[in-house]
Amino acid sequence: MYDVYKVRKDFPMLDGTKKMQGKPLVYLDNASTTFKPQVVIDKMNEYYTTLNANSHRGDYDLLYNMDVAVQESRKAIAKFINADENEVVFTSGDTASLNLVAFGYALKFLKENDEILISETEHASNVLPWFKVCELTGAKIKYIPLDEDGKITPANVKNVLSSSTKIVSIAHVGNVLGYEINIKEIAKLVHEVGAVIVVDGAQSVPHIKTDFKDLDCDFLTFSAHKMCGPTGIGALVGKYDLLDKMDAVFGGGGMNVKFSTDGTCIPLNPPSKFEAGTLNLSGILGFKAAVEYLEELGMENIHKHDVELFDYAVSNLEKNENIIIYNKNSHNGILTFNVKNVFSQDEATLLNHKGIAVRSGQHCAKLIDDVVKTKATVRASFYLYTTKEDVDALIDALNEGGDILDAYFN
Ligand code: ALA
Repeated sequence: MYDVYKVRKDFPMLDGTKKMQGKPLVYLDNASTTFKPQVVIDKMNEYYTTLNANSHRGDYDLLYNMDVAVQESRKAIAKFINADENEVVFTSGDTASLNLVAFGYALKFLKENDEILISETEHASNVLPWFKVCELTGAKIKYIPLDEDGKITPANVKNVLSSSTKIVSIAHVGNVLGYEINIKEIAKLVHEVGAVIVVDGAQSVPHIKTDFKDLDCDFLTFSAHKMCGPTGIGALVGKYDLLDKMDAVFGGGGMNVKFSTDGTCIPLNPPSKFEAGTLNLSGILGFKAAVEYLEELGMENIHKHDVELFDYAVSNLEKNENIIIYNKNSHNGILTFNVKNVFSQDEATLLNHKGIAVRSGQHCAKLIDDVVKTKATVRASFYLYTTKEDVDALIDALNEGGDILDAYFN
């Protein structure tokens, strides 16, 4: 039986003392970043207090131990998403991972009039690198039509796939509407036309048991900080043959076998060839602690908990005719809404005044306004430590209403 109150004890940020605007903190911005359990914080501190050394750059024990620790972390992350160890590249996060595919793979292999399929619901990090690739290669972006909920379906992907499609890049779970997309089915279709599929897992890997091999996607990207891990660390997971033929993008120490005065460089094999420079070592150790923490709680339990909170919030809020919910059918940890005739940022400021942290605006998905038919929304996002009481605080605050001026004068 999943015990959210017991889980909360693992998180210093949830020790009951944290306040916002003098009110107990209700944190509902987990799609942006999550709190860290003590085991992750301890592991990062351990790096700085007892393990501190570089990796791959010397022959003494302290450093060798760090090499082993990096490898152990890579193994743990590979196991977490069922990939091979040498298919996991450490990056600074999901954005860096997507950029790495764009500039390491797409820039090398795409040419004029090739097509890249994305959707209008994608986060900036899964749009802007592709814009740049198009500018540099002459390739073109095509948008996958969405169903009436704003969701990508295999049938809609099929309608726009063609022999010109070279890359399909979509989020497994969108960061605004939160729909889970049928990647496995879409991957099959994408492979039938000889294209590759890139899956932005920033909002899915932290919440849903993800199996890289079973999904059969070509690349999968995610960040540690959205899954109880540190900021500044994430992963690009790629099929080994694709990683092997991609360009390294970043040159520097730790990624090459040799380089010569004639300007040639022989890169190391993946994943090292993508990891130029000193790695974020405390982050890598913290990342391992985070995935082990999630595994111990059980990804099925985490997902079930998200869905229960979402359904609870929707069933209560849909009774309030002043609330417009944009993703009633998504059943994940993201709830996106507006209060009628209230600008989203005003609503978020009012909620802040009541101690409730939510995100407002476009959530970095600046093409989505055509889909939701509004310029800006409020997003509440739940995670493994969110309680029904947290959701009640949101429901009560929304039912109670109030004026934006309350946030400044009360
Ligand atoms: N990608 C993060 C979000 O959706 C920052 O809020």
